[in-house]
Formats: sequence, structure tokens, C-alpha cells
Amino acid sequence: MNETLVDSTFRQDVLTGLTAPHKYLLSKYFYDAKGDALFQQIMRCPEYYLTRAEAEILVLQSTQILQRCMDVPQPFDIVELGAGDGSKTIFLLKEALRLNHSQRYYPIDISPDILSYLEQTLGPKLPGMQITSLAGEYFARLEQLQLTSNQPKLVLFLGATIGNMLPDEALLFFKKLKTYLRAGDHLLVGFDLKKNPQTILNAYNDAGGLTKAFNLNLLHRINRELGADFNPDQFTHYPVYDPLTGSCKSYLISRCAQQVTFDPDTVIRFDWDEPIYMEVSQKYSLGEIHQLALQAGFEQVDAFFDCRHQFTDVLWRVG
Ligand code: AVJ
Repeated sequence: MNETLVDSTFRQDVLTGLTAPHKYLLSKYFYDAKGDALFQQIMRCPEYYLTRAEAEILVLQSTQILQRCMDVPQPFDIVELGAGDGSKTIFLLKEALRLNHSQRYYPIDISPDILSYLEQTLGPKLPGMQITSLAGEYFARLEQLQLTSNQPKLVLFLGATIGNMLPDEALLFFKKLKTYLRAGDHLLVGFDLKKNPQTILNAYNDAGGLTKAFNLNLLHRINRELGADFNPDQFTHYPVYDPLTGSCKSYLISRCAQQVTFDPDTVIRFDWDEPIYMEVSQKYSLGEIHQLALQAGFEQVDAFFDCRHQFTDVLWRVG
């Protein structure tokens, strides 16, 4: 896709969201260069336990994870959806090299910036691993990959990125993903588990204000790239967690009646206290994860946990 096409999709998505009866923006647009940097800071902040929990799993259990995938004698290609900076994946990749089981890693991410960072930081640390990064939407890039990779696959979808979909959407996503896989292929998915609601809410409402800045950054991005005139100071960051549904949702709330102009013909009005729905970070129970695997047509091979059982990486297999 060329730049103009990317811009016009972004513009279309933003205007569709802001003219809907309940205004929303798509969280995949958080990740411009500034958003990537903010998310990297979030991952290091004390309240955001997810990254540390999953890193613990990958540091301590990569051998077991890979061994559970090695029922096939051939080496497998490792494909990662939403690879980000690859800072947790490196533990698994190192182990895959040590076990001499894969030499090819295809990180896919919506952000070209974070992928070039990944190549620069991971490349030198993984001698012998061929890293081919693919920037773009998951399914478009998987489509492209089918032309080059015909080895068995281990697909990684880590970091609770799946949480950015509601459970119904996640089910459709996995059903579609399965059409890109073959019998014997594996999928390792990171899910954040339901837990003390306050622990979850704090992770999306850090005292340092990073998550707030992360949400407001999308308004800055819209101003810069689409020529709008949002005043981000006129919006409040409002996260909520519902322990029954497991949905943690973030909103930006308009602090006053205001309007935002994109161009003279495109003006969006906000009521006092009107919300923009920004993101869902869905939490699951173990039972819900197992059900999801079955409904999507996968076998659950194993589930791996951090010592506090805050997070899980589950290994699914195409039967
Ligand atoms: C990258 C989708 C896993 O939902 O926990 C972090 C994004 N948003 N803080 C998450 C995020 C606010 C994150 N994921």
C-alpha cells in the first residue's frame, strides 16, 4: 500500500468512528513513533504487570514450549503477529536456535518504526536467525508469507494483543487465522487472566500518566496526519474494568461542549462529557480460553503461567 492509500484509510476509519452514534477510534492507530515509545514506557511501569509476567514465562519455559511443538521432525518457521520490539520473543528465539529447530523468524507489525528497531536490536543478538520483518495488517502479510514460507509454522501472538478484540471478534479472528495454517502447525497466544479488578484497573491507570498520554497521543496523531485541531487538554482519560465480562475499556471524555475541524466541510461536535471509546483490553478465565480454542477449531496442547498466575501463554495446535 502506498502512503496516500494508508492516509486515506486512516482518515476514513477516524471519520467513521467519530460520526458513529457512539464515537470510537481504533486502537491499532495508537502505534505511531511516539505511541510505540509510550507503549515501551508503559511496559516498564510498575502497574503494568503483563509484560513482566509474560517475560517470566518465556525466560523460564521456552524450552518446554518449543519441545511441545517438536512432534514434527522438520524445522518450523516462527511467525509473530504484533511483534512490537521483540524484547520478550528473543528468549524463545534464542532457545529455538539452541535447539537447532528454526532459522527463520518473520515478525509482522502494524508499525514499520518498531520493526526497524526490532531488526536493529535483535539481529546482532541472534546470529544464524534469518529475520524478515513484514509491516502491515496481519492477514495481508500472512497472505504474502504463504508465497515464501512452506515449512511448518509456529505462530506467536503474544503480549495479550488478542485483548484488543472482544471475545466474539477474537473467535472470528482465530477462525480466520486457522485458514492460513496447516495440520500440525502451532499457535502460541498470550492472554491476560481475570484477577483482582483493582490490579487490572491500575495497569490501565498508571500513576505516572503514561496510559493517559498513550490515549491522548492518538488525538495528536490525528491533528498532525489528518490536519484536525483537537485540543487534547480538553479530554480526560477514563478507564473502566468490568470483572464479569472481563472487559477493561478506555475512554476519552470530552470535558466541555466543543468541536473539532478536519477541513471546512468536516466538523465533529462533542457534547459535554461525551465519550470516545478508545480501546478494549479483554481479560479471560482459563475456562474461557479453553472454550475459545475449541470453538475456533484448535486443540489446546498446554498452558504456561508466570509464578503468580497473572498471565498465560497457551499453545494451540491445528489438528
Ligand atoms: C498491547 C494491546 C496488549 O491492552 O494491555 C497498554 C495496550 N493499552 N496500556 C493492552 C495497552 C493501554 C496493550 N496491548
